[in-house]
Amino acid sequence: MTRLRVLITRRWPEEVERELAEKFDVVLNESDQPMGQQALAEAMGDFDVLCPTVSDRIDTDVIAGGNRVKLIANYGVGFDHIDMAAAKAKGIPVTNTPGVLTDATADIALTLLLMAARRAGEGERELRAGNWSGWRPTHLIGSALKGKVLGLVGFGRIGIATARRAHHGFGMKVAYYGRRPCDPEVAEELQAEFVPDLTDLLGKSDFVSLHVPGGSDTANLIDADALAAMKPGSYLINTARGGVVDHGALAEALRSGHLAGAGLDVYPAEPKVPEALLDLEDVVLLPHLGSANAETRIAMGMRALANVEAFAKGADLPDRIG
Ligand code: DGY
Repeated sequence: MTRLRVLITRRWPEEVERELAEKFDVVLNESDQPMGQQALAEAMGDFDVLCPTVSDRIDTDVIAGGNRVKLIANYGVGFDHIDMAAAKAKGIPVTNTPGVLTDATADIALTLLLMAARRAGEGERELRAGNWSGWRPTHLIGSALKGKVLGLVGFGRIGIATARRAHHGFGMKVAYYGRRPCDPEVAEELQAEFVPDLTDLLGKSDFVSLHVPGGSDTANLIDADALAAMKPGSYLINTARGGVVDHGALAEALRSGHLAGAGLDVYPAEPKVPEALLDLEDVVLLPHLGSANAETRIAMGMRALANVEAFAKGADLPDRIG
């Protein structure tokens, strides 16, 4: 039987690359440099399976680049970097890696929330620059978390995991906006209040954390009006997708003092970071680390591999999204 020819567009954890190489005719990206649009388009004619990730733009032109690829097995849960309609039009199924990065991403949301609330980034920069003049009662005063309202925009797996940490770990109150009320058991466990109107949620939250998918439906969901609707002195946390936030408006809301701080892990055109944010002290900026722990990155790879194996056997794809 001929082995499937599989392209892995970036370095994956060693254990997963080894297993892939045992099972498939796999081409790895040893240099780990992003491949670029031309090379991705050519790959569509040279491989049976394409395994991209969030740093690849699998757009209409790439998908039109060749007719050999019969599966796109994405490494990652978000898939707004893939033109799903173009893949569908060519009959190419797409899979992702849900579930396995829930805890890691919720951990990063809490990392950002704590760092923003307690001004950890500012403090570390001050100390490393040699500017710390010593303890004093008024130095770098942040915000407590206990009793504060955490408003979650989107209450899927990652939103709920974030709420659990905030509620059980830090005594925060939970409110959420989503398409529908959550499972009653979850609502009871977290004493979570469903707020069906986004503006209402923004107006009552001390901290807002974003957990909606990226893409055209949520583009600039948090725009100047939404930011103006946030409670004065509140904080915005984004571990979802950069396109959900208008970063010019966010910079303005921080500069004016309307928001007390923000914590971001994702940006609209990564790895570019919106210039307007770089000089602001009260925004914590991480380089898309949501899923970056060893266990999670291996689990993501194994999940993508399980989809490729199912495809090779002609079985149902466990994580088919399109
Ligand atoms: C995802 O899986 O969508 C993440 O953002 C990449 O780690």
